Amino acid sequence: MCITMDRAALSLTVFGFLLVWSVSGLNKQENDIDIYSFHINSTVISRYAITIITSRVANCLNESKEVHFQVQIPKNAFINRFRMTMEGKMYDGVVKEKEEAQQQYSQAVSRGESAGIVNSVGRTLEEFKTSVTVAAFSKVTFELTYEELLKRQLGQYQLLINAQPMQTVADFKIDVYIHENPGISFLAVNGGLSTKELANAVTITRSDKEVWVNFYPTREQQTNCDVCGPTGLKGDLIINYDVERQNPSGALQASEGYFVHYFAPTDVQRIPKNVVFVIDRSGSMSGRKIRQTREALLKILGDISEEDHFGLVTFNAHINVWNPELLPASEGNLQKAKDFVRTIRDHGPTNINDAVLKGVEMINRHQRERSASILILLTDGAPNTGESDPIKIQANVKKAIGGKFPLYCLGFGFDVNFEFLQKMALENSGRAVRIYEDSDADLQLQGFYEEVATPLLTDVQLNYTGAGNLTQTTFSHYYNGSEIVVAGQITDNSLDSLQTTVIAISRNSNVIYQDSVFTKDLAGVLPQHENFIERIWAYLTIKQLLEKE
Ligand SMILES: *[C@@H]1O[C@H](CO)[C@@H](O)[C@H](O)[C@H]1NC(C)=O
Ligand SMILES: *[C@@H]1O[C@H](CO)[C@@H](O)[C@H](O)[C@H]1NC(C)=O
Ligand SMILES: *[C@@H]1O[C@H](CO)[C@@H](O)[C@H](O)[C@H]1NC(C)=O
Repeated sequence: MCITMDRAALSLTVFGFLLVWSVSGLNKQENDIDIYSFHINSTVISRYAITIITSRVANCLNESKEVHFQVQIPKNAFINRFRMTMEGKMYDGVVKEKEEAQQQYSQAVSRGESAGIVNSVGRTLEEFKTSVTVAAFSKVTFELTYEELLKRQLGQYQLLINAQPMQTVADFKIDVYIHENPGISFLAVNGGLSTKELANAVTITRSDKEVWVNFYPTREQQTNCDVCGPTGLKGDLIINYDVERQNPSGALQASEGYFVHYFAPTDVQRIPKNVVFVIDRSGSMSGRKIRQTREALLKILGDISEEDHFGLVTFNAHINVWNPELLPASEGNLQKAKDFVRTIRDHGPTNINDAVLKGVEMINRHQRERSASILILLTDGAPNTGESDPIKIQANVKKAIGGKFPLYCLGFGFDVNFEFLQKMALENSGRAVRIYEDSDADLQLQGFYEEVATPLLTDVQLNYTGAGNLTQTTFSHYYNGSEIVVAGQITDNSLDSLQTTVIAISRNSNVIYQDSVFTKDLAGVLPQHENFIERIWAYLTIKQLLEKE
Protein backbone atom coordinates (compact mmCIF):
# COMPACT_ATOMS: atom_id res chain seq x y z
CA MET A 1 0.00 0.00 0.00
CA CYS A 2 2.99 2.20 -0.06
CA ILE A 3 2.91 4.87 -2.78
CA THR A 4 5.77 4.69 -5.19
CA MET A 5 6.66 8.26 -5.93
CA ASP A 6 8.00 7.80 -9.44
CA ARG A 7 4.49 7.38 -10.81
CA ALA A 8 3.30 10.00 -13.24
CA ALA A 9 0.76 11.07 -10.66
CA LEU A 10 3.43 13.02 -8.84
CA SER A 11 3.06 16.62 -9.80
CA LEU A 12 4.82 19.23 -7.78
CA THR A 13 4.13 22.87 -8.30
CA VAL A 14 6.21 25.27 -6.36
CA PHE A 15 6.30 29.03 -6.73
CA GLY A 16 2.70 30.18 -7.13
CA PHE A 17 2.97 29.03 -3.55
CA LEU A 18 1.13 25.84 -4.31
CA LEU A 19 2.24 22.31 -4.25
CA VAL A 20 0.13 19.53 -5.54
CA TRP A 21 0.33 15.82 -5.93
CA SER A 22 -1.80 12.79 -5.52
CA VAL A 23 -1.52 10.59 -2.49
CA SER A 24 -3.88 7.77 -1.70
CA GLY A 25 -4.54 6.10 1.61
CA LEU A 26 -4.64 9.23 3.76
CA ASN A 27 -3.86 8.47 7.34
CA LYS A 28 -4.41 11.08 10.03
CA GLN A 29 -2.37 9.45 12.80
CA GLU A 30 1.08 10.86 13.37
CA ASN A 31 2.51 8.63 16.08
CA ASP A 32 5.89 7.01 15.67
CA ILE A 33 6.91 9.52 13.07
CA ASP A 34 10.26 10.81 14.24
CA ILE A 35 11.75 14.09 13.05
CA TYR A 36 15.29 13.06 13.89
CA SER A 37 16.97 16.07 12.33
CA PHE A 38 15.82 19.66 11.73
CA HIS A 39 18.26 22.22 10.36
CA ILE A 40 17.79 25.80 9.27
CA ASN A 41 20.71 27.41 7.52
CA SER A 42 20.52 31.08 6.63
CA THR A 43 23.24 32.92 4.74
CA VAL A 44 22.96 36.70 4.45
CA ILE A 45 25.31 38.51 2.10
CA SER A 46 24.73 42.24 1.55
CA ARG A 47 21.20 42.09 3.03
CA TYR A 48 20.23 39.18 0.77
CA ALA A 49 19.17 36.13 2.76
CA ILE A 50 19.05 32.59 1.44
CA THR A 51 17.54 30.16 3.91
CA ILE A 52 17.43 26.39 3.62
CA ILE A 53 15.20 24.35 5.89
CA THR A 54 16.05 20.65 5.98
CA SER A 55 13.84 18.23 7.87
CA ARG A 56 14.66 14.52 8.07
CA VAL A 57 11.87 12.25 9.16
CA ALA A 58 11.68 8.51 9.85
CA ASN A 59 8.60 6.34 9.80
CA CYS A 60 9.32 3.92 12.61
CA LEU A 61 6.21 1.88 12.01
CA ASN A 62 5.80 -1.35 10.14
CA GLU A 63 3.24 0.27 7.84
CA SER A 64 3.25 3.27 5.53
CA LYS A 65 2.27 6.61 7.03
CA GLU A 66 1.50 10.11 5.88
CA VAL A 67 4.29 12.47 6.92
CA HIS A 68 3.67 16.21 7.13
CA PHE A 69 6.11 18.98 6.40
CA GLN A 70 4.91 22.34 7.59
CA VAL A 71 7.01 25.46 7.93
CA GLN A 72 6.48 29.21 8.11
CA ILE A 73 8.43 31.61 5.99
CA PRO A 74 8.46 35.43 5.75
CA LYS A 75 5.78 36.93 3.47
CA ASN A 76 8.37 38.85 1.52
CA ALA A 77 10.33 35.73 0.60
CA PHE A 78 10.24 33.77 -2.63
CA ILE A 79 10.40 30.01 -2.45
CA ASN A 80 13.00 29.06 -5.00
CA ARG A 81 13.21 25.32 -4.46
CA PHE A 82 11.41 22.49 -2.78
CA ARG A 83 13.03 19.09 -2.84
CA MET A 84 12.04 15.76 -1.37
CA THR A 85 14.29 12.72 -1.09
CA MET A 86 12.85 9.29 -0.43
CA GLU A 87 14.34 5.85 -0.84
CA GLY A 88 17.32 7.27 -2.65
CA LYS A 89 15.23 9.20 -5.17
CA MET A 90 15.05 12.97 -5.38
CA TYR A 91 11.97 14.91 -6.44
CA ASP A 92 12.26 18.58 -7.36
CA GLY A 93 9.39 21.03 -7.37
CA VAL A 94 8.67 22.71 -10.68
CA VAL A 95 8.39 26.46 -10.92
CA LYS A 96 5.04 27.44 -12.38
CA GLU A 97 2.94 30.55 -12.69
CA LYS A 98 0.58 31.23 -9.84
CA GLU A 99 -2.61 30.92 -11.95
CA GLU A 100 -1.61 27.54 -13.27
CA ALA A 101 -0.73 26.33 -9.81
CA GLN A 102 -4.10 27.47 -8.53
CA GLN A 103 -5.86 25.59 -11.32
CA GLN A 104 -3.91 22.41 -10.70
CA TYR A 105 -4.65 22.71 -7.04
CA SER A 106 -8.42 22.99 -7.67
CA GLN A 107 -8.30 20.01 -10.03
CA ALA A 108 -6.40 17.91 -7.52
CA VAL A 109 -8.89 18.79 -4.81
CA SER A 110 -11.89 18.00 -7.05
CA ARG A 111 -10.35 14.59 -7.79
CA GLY A 112 -10.20 13.97 -4.04
CA GLU A 113 -6.43 14.05 -3.93
CA SER A 114 -4.26 15.44 -1.23
CA ALA A 115 -2.60 18.77 -1.92
CA GLY A 116 -0.26 21.21 -0.28
CA ILE A 117 -0.60 24.96 -0.26
CA VAL A 118 0.91 28.10 1.15
CA ASN A 119 -1.41 30.05 3.42
CA SER A 120 -1.06 33.38 5.09
CA VAL A 121 -0.67 33.00 8.83
CA GLY A 122 -0.55 36.13 10.93
CA ARG A 123 1.22 39.33 10.08
CA THR A 124 4.65 38.47 8.86
CA LEU A 125 4.65 34.82 7.93
CA GLU A 126 3.03 32.43 5.55
CA GLU A 127 2.81 28.72 5.89
CA PHE A 128 4.17 26.17 3.45
CA LYS A 129 2.46 22.87 4.06
CA THR A 130 2.62 19.51 2.39
CA SER A 131 2.57 15.81 3.14
CA VAL A 132 3.69 12.58 1.61
CA THR A 133 3.16 8.90 2.34
CA VAL A 134 6.29 7.18 3.58
CA ALA A 135 6.75 3.40 3.46
CA ALA A 136 7.24 1.28 6.57
CA PHE A 137 10.63 1.81 8.24
CA SER A 138 11.55 4.41 5.62
CA LYS A 139 12.86 7.93 5.76
CA VAL A 140 12.09 11.14 3.92
CA THR A 141 14.08 14.37 3.66
CA PHE A 142 12.32 17.66 2.92
CA GLU A 143 14.37 20.62 1.79
CA LEU A 144 12.87 24.06 1.23
CA THR A 145 14.93 27.05 0.05
CA TYR A 146 13.64 30.61 0.16
CA GLU A 147 15.21 33.99 -0.51
CA GLU A 148 14.51 37.56 0.49
CA LEU A 149 16.12 40.97 0.46
CA LEU A 150 16.07 42.30 4.00
CA LYS A 151 14.49 45.72 4.09
CA ARG A 152 15.82 48.48 6.31
CA GLN A 153 13.12 49.89 8.56
CA LEU A 154 13.58 52.32 11.43
CA GLY A 155 17.33 51.97 11.18
CA GLN A 156 17.71 48.19 11.06
CA TYR A 157 17.42 45.02 9.04
CA GLN A 158 15.58 42.05 10.45
CA LEU A 159 16.10 38.39 9.68
CA LEU A 160 13.22 36.37 11.07
CA ILE A 161 13.47 32.60 11.35
CA ASN A 162 10.48 30.63 12.50
CA ALA A 163 10.83 27.12 13.88
CA GLN A 164 8.08 24.82 15.08
CA PRO A 165 8.79 21.17 14.29
CA MET A 166 5.85 20.06 16.54
CA GLN A 167 8.06 17.65 18.47
CA THR A 168 11.40 17.74 20.19
CA VAL A 169 14.20 16.92 17.80
CA ALA A 170 17.43 15.11 18.68
CA ASP A 171 19.49 17.05 16.12
CA PHE A 172 18.16 20.60 16.00
CA LYS A 173 20.25 23.41 14.53
CA ILE A 174 19.81 26.93 13.30
CA ASP A 175 22.91 28.41 11.68
CA VAL A 176 23.02 32.01 10.53
CA TYR A 177 25.92 33.63 8.77
CA ILE A 178 25.90 37.33 7.91
CA HIS A 179 28.51 39.11 5.82
CA GLU A 180 28.33 42.86 5.25
CA ASN A 181 31.29 44.46 3.51
CA PRO A 182 30.88 47.97 4.98
CA GLY A 183 30.95 46.45 8.50
CA ILE A 184 28.22 45.61 10.99
CA SER A 185 27.45 48.48 13.34
CA PHE A 186 24.79 46.91 15.50
CA LEU A 187 23.51 43.40 16.24
CA ALA A 188 20.82 41.99 18.50
CA VAL A 189 19.26 38.54 18.76
CA ASN A 190 15.61 38.58 19.85
CA GLY A 191 12.48 36.48 19.60
CA GLY A 192 10.81 33.82 21.74
CA LEU A 193 13.51 31.29 20.92
CA SER A 194 16.13 33.36 22.70
CA THR A 195 14.34 33.38 26.07
CA LYS A 196 14.77 31.37 29.31
CA GLU A 197 16.77 28.13 29.01
CA LEU A 198 16.92 28.49 25.27
CA ALA A 199 19.02 31.64 25.60
CA ASN A 200 21.86 29.29 26.58
CA ALA A 201 21.52 27.51 23.26
CA VAL A 202 22.42 30.65 21.30
CA THR A 203 26.03 31.50 20.54
CA ILE A 204 27.05 34.66 18.74
CA THR A 205 30.45 35.12 17.15
CA ARG A 206 31.33 38.28 15.32
CA SER A 207 34.04 40.22 13.62
CA ASP A 208 33.81 43.61 11.89
CA LYS A 209 32.12 42.32 8.78
CA GLU A 210 30.82 38.93 9.80
CA VAL A 211 28.40 37.44 12.29
CA TRP A 212 27.69 33.82 13.11
CA VAL A 213 24.62 32.96 15.16
CA ASN A 214 24.32 29.31 16.11
CA PHE A 215 21.35 27.90 17.91
CA TYR A 216 21.79 24.28 19.01
CA PRO A 217 19.21 23.43 21.68
CA THR A 218 19.16 20.07 23.42
CA ARG A 219 15.87 18.17 23.69
CA GLU A 220 15.49 19.44 27.27
CA GLN A 221 16.09 23.05 26.26
CA GLN A 222 13.53 22.68 23.49
CA THR A 223 10.81 22.42 26.13
CA ASN A 224 11.96 25.35 28.24
CA CYS A 225 11.40 28.80 26.79
CA ASP A 226 8.58 31.34 26.64
CA VAL A 227 7.31 29.75 23.43
CA CYS A 228 8.08 26.11 24.25
CA GLY A 229 5.75 23.33 25.28
CA PRO A 230 5.77 19.57 25.68
CA THR A 231 5.76 19.27 21.88
CA GLY A 232 8.92 21.29 21.55
CA LEU A 233 9.64 24.84 20.61
CA LYS A 234 7.46 27.02 18.50
CA GLY A 235 8.55 30.53 17.74
CA ASP A 236 10.94 32.96 16.16
CA LEU A 237 14.62 33.68 16.26
CA ILE A 238 14.98 37.31 15.20
CA ILE A 239 18.27 38.88 14.24
CA ASN A 240 18.36 42.65 13.97
CA TYR A 241 21.37 44.47 12.65
CA ASP A 242 22.57 47.54 10.82
CA VAL A 243 25.64 48.32 8.76
CA GLU A 244 28.27 51.06 8.80
CA ARG A 245 27.73 53.91 6.37
CA GLN A 246 30.91 55.87 5.75
CA ASN A 247 29.98 57.23 2.38
CA PRO A 248 26.85 59.42 2.08
CA SER A 249 26.63 58.62 -1.62
CA GLY A 250 25.98 55.01 -0.72
CA ALA A 251 27.70 51.66 -1.03
CA LEU A 252 28.31 49.98 -4.37
CA GLN A 253 28.92 46.31 -4.94
CA ALA A 254 29.34 44.37 -8.13
CA SER A 255 30.11 40.93 -9.37
CA GLU A 256 29.63 38.84 -12.50
CA GLY A 257 28.29 41.76 -14.50
CA TYR A 258 25.69 42.90 -11.94
CA PHE A 259 25.83 45.71 -9.42
CA VAL A 260 23.82 46.86 -6.45
CA HIS A 261 23.72 50.31 -4.92
CA TYR A 262 22.59 50.88 -1.34
CA PHE A 263 21.71 54.50 -0.72
CA ALA A 264 20.89 55.68 2.81
CA PRO A 265 22.52 59.02 3.62
CA THR A 266 22.30 60.18 7.21
CA ASP A 267 23.96 63.57 6.89
CA VAL A 268 20.68 65.27 6.02
CA GLN A 269 18.22 67.37 7.97
CA ARG A 270 14.57 66.45 8.11
CA ILE A 271 12.17 68.07 5.68
CA PRO A 272 8.94 69.54 7.04
CA LYS A 273 5.85 67.49 6.14
CA ASN A 274 2.39 68.32 4.92
CA VAL A 275 0.39 65.37 6.04
CA VAL A 276 -3.32 64.73 5.63
CA PHE A 277 -5.03 61.81 7.35
CA VAL A 278 -8.19 60.54 5.67
CA ILE A 279 -10.07 58.51 8.27
CA ASP A 280 -12.91 56.08 7.68
CA ARG A 281 -15.73 56.57 10.22
CA SER A 282 -18.28 54.35 8.52
CA GLY A 283 -20.43 51.92 10.52
CA SER A 284 -18.11 48.98 10.00
CA MET A 285 -15.40 50.74 12.04
CA SER A 286 -17.57 50.41 15.16
CA GLY A 287 -16.18 49.17 18.45
CA ARG A 288 -12.51 48.48 18.91
CA LYS A 289 -11.42 49.67 15.45
CA ILE A 290 -12.66 53.23 15.81
CA ARG A 291 -11.40 53.35 19.39
CA GLN A 292 -7.91 52.23 18.37
CA THR A 293 -7.92 54.62 15.43
CA ARG A 294 -8.70 57.51 17.78
CA GLU A 295 -5.96 56.40 20.18
CA ALA A 296 -3.39 56.05 17.42
CA LEU A 297 -4.28 59.46 15.98
CA LEU A 298 -3.94 61.09 19.38
CA LYS A 299 -0.45 59.58 19.77
CA ILE A 300 0.56 60.51 16.23
CA LEU A 301 -0.62 64.09 16.78
CA GLY A 302 1.47 64.06 19.95
CA ASP A 303 4.58 63.16 17.92
CA ILE A 304 4.04 65.47 14.98
CA SER A 305 6.86 67.90 14.51
CA GLU A 306 6.35 71.61 15.11
CA GLU A 307 7.35 72.59 11.58
CA ASP A 308 4.89 70.14 9.99
CA HIS A 309 1.50 71.13 8.64
CA PHE A 310 -1.41 68.76 8.91
CA GLY A 311 -5.03 68.15 8.05
CA LEU A 312 -7.75 65.70 9.03
CA VAL A 313 -10.56 64.37 6.86
CA THR A 314 -13.11 61.92 8.19
CA PHE A 315 -15.69 60.20 6.03
CA ASN A 316 -18.67 57.93 5.74
CA ALA A 317 -21.18 58.93 3.05
CA HIS A 318 -20.30 62.50 3.98
CA ILE A 319 -16.90 64.08 3.94
CA ASN A 320 -16.02 66.05 7.00
CA VAL A 321 -12.90 68.19 7.41
CA TRP A 322 -11.49 69.33 10.71
CA ASN A 323 -10.22 72.45 9.00
CA PRO A 324 -10.47 73.23 5.27
CA GLU A 325 -6.76 74.24 5.13
CA LEU A 326 -3.71 72.43 6.42
CA LEU A 327 -2.56 74.12 9.63
CA PRO A 328 0.86 74.35 11.30
CA ALA A 329 1.37 71.83 14.10
CA SER A 330 1.38 74.47 16.80
CA GLU A 331 0.40 73.50 20.30
CA GLY A 332 -2.96 75.25 20.02
CA ASN A 333 -3.81 73.61 16.69
CA LEU A 334 -2.80 70.18 17.93
CA GLN A 335 -4.99 70.61 21.00
CA LYS A 336 -7.97 71.50 18.82
CA ALA A 337 -7.24 68.60 16.49
CA LYS A 338 -7.09 66.19 19.41
CA ASP A 339 -10.46 67.45 20.66
CA PHE A 340 -11.82 66.80 17.17
CA VAL A 341 -10.33 63.28 17.07
CA ARG A 342 -12.02 62.42 20.36
CA THR A 343 -15.41 63.18 18.77
CA ILE A 344 -14.95 60.80 15.80
CA ARG A 345 -17.83 58.29 15.83
CA ASP A 346 -18.65 55.45 13.47
CA HIS A 347 -21.82 55.49 11.39
CA GLY A 348 -23.05 55.00 7.82
CA PRO A 349 -21.58 53.78 4.48
CA THR A 350 -18.15 54.33 2.89
CA ASN A 351 -17.34 56.97 0.26
CA ILE A 352 -13.63 56.46 -0.32
CA ASN A 353 -13.57 58.31 -3.65
CA ASP A 354 -14.72 61.70 -2.42
CA ALA A 355 -12.75 61.42 0.80
CA VAL A 356 -9.41 60.76 -0.88
CA LEU A 357 -10.08 63.42 -3.52
CA LYS A 358 -10.78 65.89 -0.71
CA GLY A 359 -7.43 65.06 0.89
CA VAL A 360 -5.65 65.46 -2.44
CA GLU A 361 -7.31 68.81 -3.03
CA MET A 362 -6.26 70.06 0.42
CA ILE A 363 -2.62 69.12 -0.22
CA ASN A 364 -2.70 70.56 -3.75
CA ARG A 365 -3.96 73.91 -2.43
CA HIS A 366 -1.21 73.94 0.16
CA GLN A 367 1.99 74.33 -1.85
CA ARG A 368 5.04 74.85 0.34
CA GLU A 369 8.59 74.97 -1.02
CA ARG A 370 10.97 72.33 0.31
CA SER A 371 8.43 70.27 2.10
CA ALA A 372 7.25 66.68 1.70
CA SER A 373 3.55 66.02 1.22
CA ILE A 374 2.03 62.74 2.34
CA LEU A 375 -1.54 61.48 2.15
CA ILE A 376 -2.57 58.68 4.48
CA LEU A 377 -5.87 56.82 4.03
CA LEU A 378 -7.15 54.59 6.79
CA THR A 379 -10.14 52.39 5.99
CA ASP A 380 -11.59 49.00 6.87
CA GLY A 381 -14.14 48.68 4.12
CA ALA A 382 -14.91 48.51 0.48
CA PRO A 383 -16.28 51.63 -1.19
CA ASN A 384 -20.07 51.34 -1.24
CA THR A 385 -21.47 54.80 -1.76
CA GLY A 386 -20.75 57.65 -4.18
CA GLU A 387 -18.31 56.42 -6.81
CA SER A 388 -17.87 52.81 -5.76
CA ASP A 389 -16.21 51.25 -8.79
CA PRO A 390 -12.64 50.55 -7.60
CA ILE A 391 -11.20 51.02 -11.11
CA LYS A 392 -12.78 54.46 -11.46
CA ILE A 393 -11.67 55.49 -7.98
CA GLN A 394 -8.11 54.45 -8.77
CA ALA A 395 -8.19 56.45 -11.99
CA ASN A 396 -9.66 59.52 -10.25
CA VAL A 397 -7.09 59.42 -7.48
CA LYS A 398 -4.15 58.89 -9.81
CA LYS A 399 -5.22 61.80 -11.97
CA ALA A 400 -5.75 64.10 -8.99
CA ILE A 401 -2.40 63.29 -7.38
CA GLY A 402 -0.56 63.44 -10.71
CA GLY A 403 2.59 61.84 -9.29
CA LYS A 404 3.21 64.79 -6.99
CA PHE A 405 3.22 63.00 -3.61
CA PRO A 406 2.75 59.49 -2.21
CA LEU A 407 -0.49 57.96 -0.98
CA TYR A 408 -0.28 55.38 1.80
CA CYS A 409 -3.25 53.11 2.41
CA LEU A 410 -3.76 51.44 5.73
CA GLY A 411 -6.25 48.57 5.47
CA PHE A 412 -7.86 47.74 8.78
CA GLY A 413 -9.03 44.15 9.37
CA PHE A 414 -10.00 41.51 6.84
CA ASP A 415 -13.22 42.88 5.31
CA VAL A 416 -11.13 45.46 3.55
CA ASN A 417 -10.56 45.21 -0.21
CA PHE A 418 -6.82 45.10 0.25
CA GLU A 419 -5.91 44.53 -3.38
CA PHE A 420 -7.73 47.72 -4.31
CA LEU A 421 -5.85 49.67 -1.64
CA GLN A 422 -2.56 48.13 -2.66
CA LYS A 423 -2.97 49.03 -6.30
CA MET A 424 -4.06 52.56 -5.47
CA ALA A 425 -1.07 53.08 -3.14
CA LEU A 426 1.47 51.61 -5.56
CA GLU A 427 0.12 53.68 -8.44
CA ASN A 428 0.84 56.76 -6.37
CA SER A 429 4.35 55.79 -5.25
CA GLY A 430 3.15 54.79 -1.79
CA ARG A 431 2.51 51.50 -0.12
CA ALA A 432 -0.43 49.66 1.42
CA VAL A 433 -0.13 48.24 4.90
CA ARG A 434 -2.50 45.79 6.52
CA ILE A 435 -3.45 46.68 10.06
CA TYR A 436 -4.43 43.54 11.97
CA GLU A 437 -7.51 43.87 14.09
CA ASP A 438 -5.87 43.05 17.36
CA SER A 439 -5.21 44.51 20.76
CA ASP A 440 -2.15 46.36 19.45
CA ALA A 441 -3.71 47.87 16.31
CA ASP A 442 -3.02 51.37 17.66
CA LEU A 443 0.69 50.45 17.92
CA GLN A 444 0.67 49.10 14.36
CA LEU A 445 -0.73 52.42 13.14
CA GLN A 446 1.89 54.38 15.06
CA GLY A 447 4.60 52.02 13.82
CA PHE A 448 3.65 52.75 10.25
CA TYR A 449 3.59 56.47 10.91
CA GLU A 450 7.07 56.36 12.44
CA GLU A 451 8.44 54.93 9.20
CA VAL A 452 7.28 57.96 7.23
CA ALA A 453 7.60 60.49 10.05
CA THR A 454 10.98 61.85 8.99
CA PRO A 455 11.44 62.56 5.27
CA LEU A 456 15.03 63.52 4.49
CA LEU A 457 14.90 63.84 0.71
CA THR A 458 12.23 64.15 -1.96
CA ASP A 459 12.27 63.50 -5.72
CA VAL A 460 15.19 61.12 -5.51
CA GLN A 461 16.57 60.09 -8.87
CA LEU A 462 19.44 57.64 -9.27
CA ASN A 463 21.57 57.41 -12.43
CA TYR A 464 24.31 55.01 -13.48
CA THR A 465 26.76 55.16 -16.35
CA GLY A 466 27.31 52.11 -18.49
CA ALA A 467 24.51 50.16 -16.84
CA GLY A 468 21.16 48.82 -17.99
CA ASN A 469 18.18 46.71 -16.93
CA LEU A 470 17.92 48.83 -13.82
CA THR A 471 15.38 48.25 -11.09
CA GLN A 472 13.31 51.24 -9.93
CA THR A 473 15.43 54.42 -9.96
CA THR A 474 13.02 57.17 -8.89
CA PHE A 475 11.58 57.51 -5.42
CA SER A 476 9.28 60.27 -4.27
CA HIS A 477 10.60 60.34 -0.70
CA TYR A 478 13.52 58.97 1.24
CA TYR A 479 12.78 58.54 4.94
CA ASN A 480 15.17 58.40 7.86
CA GLY A 481 15.89 54.80 8.87
CA SER A 482 15.05 53.33 5.45
CA GLU A 483 17.26 52.54 2.47
CA ILE A 484 16.99 52.85 -1.29
CA VAL A 485 18.31 49.82 -3.18
CA VAL A 486 18.93 49.83 -6.94
CA ALA A 487 20.38 46.92 -8.88
CA GLY A 488 21.27 46.56 -12.54
CA GLN A 489 23.50 45.03 -15.14
CA ILE A 490 26.82 46.51 -16.17
CA THR A 491 26.30 46.77 -19.91
CA ASP A 492 29.40 48.68 -20.96
CA ASN A 493 32.36 46.51 -20.06
CA SER A 494 34.84 48.94 -21.57
CA LEU A 495 34.39 51.39 -18.67
CA ASP A 496 36.94 51.01 -15.94
CA SER A 497 34.74 52.63 -13.29
CA LEU A 498 31.10 52.61 -12.33
CA GLN A 499 29.65 56.05 -11.76
CA THR A 500 26.59 56.85 -9.70
CA THR A 501 24.76 60.14 -9.56
CA VAL A 502 21.89 60.72 -7.18
CA ILE A 503 19.88 63.89 -7.56
CA ALA A 504 17.39 64.87 -4.88
CA ILE A 505 15.79 67.78 -3.08
CA SER A 506 16.75 68.32 0.53
CA ARG A 507 15.57 70.77 3.13
CA ASN A 508 17.75 73.64 1.99
CA SER A 509 18.92 72.89 -1.51
CA ASN A 510 19.00 70.55 -4.44
CA VAL A 511 21.63 67.94 -3.69
CA ILE A 512 23.80 65.75 -5.87
CA TYR A 513 25.63 62.70 -4.58
CA GLN A 514 28.28 61.47 -6.97
CA ASP A 515 30.56 58.53 -6.73
CA SER A 516 32.90 56.67 -8.99
CA VAL A 517 34.36 53.32 -8.14
CA PHE A 518 36.90 51.38 -10.17
CA THR A 519 35.29 48.20 -11.41
CA LYS A 520 38.35 46.24 -10.42
CA ASP A 521 37.79 47.38 -6.81
CA LEU A 522 34.19 46.25 -6.94
CA ALA A 523 34.91 42.74 -8.04
CA GLY A 524 33.53 39.93 -5.98
CA VAL A 525 31.48 40.12 -2.83
CA LEU A 526 32.83 36.83 -1.57
CA PRO A 527 34.38 34.22 -3.81
CA GLN A 528 31.94 31.47 -2.80
CA HIS A 529 28.88 33.72 -3.18
CA GLU A 530 29.50 35.15 -6.61
CA ASN A 531 25.95 35.26 -7.86
CA PHE A 532 24.44 37.09 -4.89
CA ILE A 533 24.29 40.42 -6.69
CA GLU A 534 22.54 38.85 -9.65
CA ARG A 535 20.04 37.30 -7.25
CA ILE A 536 19.38 40.67 -5.61
CA TRP A 537 18.76 42.12 -9.06
CA ALA A 538 16.41 39.25 -9.97
CA TYR A 539 14.56 39.50 -6.66
CA LEU A 540 13.94 43.25 -7.02
CA THR A 541 13.00 42.92 -10.68
CA ILE A 542 10.40 40.23 -9.96
CA LYS A 543 9.03 42.03 -6.88
CA GLN A 544 8.61 45.25 -8.84
CA LEU A 545 7.01 43.42 -11.77
CA LEU A 546 4.53 41.70 -9.46
CA GLU A 547 3.66 45.05 -7.90
CA LYS A 548 2.96 46.56 -11.31
CA GLU A 549 0.57 43.79 -12.32
C1 LIG B 1 24.88 26.69 5.10
O1 LIG B 1 24.75 26.89 3.70
C2 LIG B 1 25.91 27.45 3.10
C3 LIG B 1 25.57 27.75 1.66
O2 LIG B 1 24.88 26.71 1.06
C4 LIG B 1 27.09 26.48 3.26
O3 LIG B 1 28.24 27.04 2.69
C5 LIG B 1 27.30 26.23 4.75
O4 LIG B 1 28.31 25.26 4.92
C6 LIG B 1 26.04 25.75 5.43
N1 LIG B 1 26.27 25.75 6.86
C7 LIG B 1 25.95 24.73 7.63
C8 LIG B 1 26.28 24.86 9.07
O5 LIG B 1 25.39 23.73 7.19
C1 LIG C 1 2.95 -4.46 12.67
O1 LIG C 1 3.33 -4.79 13.98
C2 LIG C 1 2.26 -5.17 14.82
C3 LIG C 1 2.80 -5.47 16.20
O2 LIG C 1 3.72 -4.48 16.60
C4 LIG C 1 1.60 -6.42 14.26
O3 LIG C 1 0.48 -6.77 15.04
C5 LIG C 1 1.16 -6.17 12.83
O4 LIG C 1 0.67 -7.37 12.28
C6 LIG C 1 2.32 -5.66 12.00
N1 LIG C 1 1.82 -5.29 10.67
C7 LIG C 1 2.43 -5.63 9.55
C8 LIG C 1 1.81 -5.10 8.29
O5 LIG C 1 3.43 -6.33 9.53
C1 LIG D 1 17.57 59.63 11.94
O1 LIG D 1 17.51 58.53 12.82
C2 LIG D 1 18.63 58.39 13.66
C3 LIG D 1 18.42 57.18 14.53
O2 LIG D 1 17.77 56.16 13.90
C4 LIG D 1 18.80 59.62 14.51
O3 LIG D 1 19.98 59.49 15.27
C5 LIG D 1 18.87 60.84 13.63
O4 LIG D 1 18.93 61.99 14.44
C6 LIG D 1 17.68 60.90 12.71
N1 LIG D 1 17.82 62.04 11.81
C7 LIG D 1 16.94 63.03 11.74
C8 LIG D 1 17.24 64.12 10.78
O5 LIG D 1 15.94 63.04 12.43
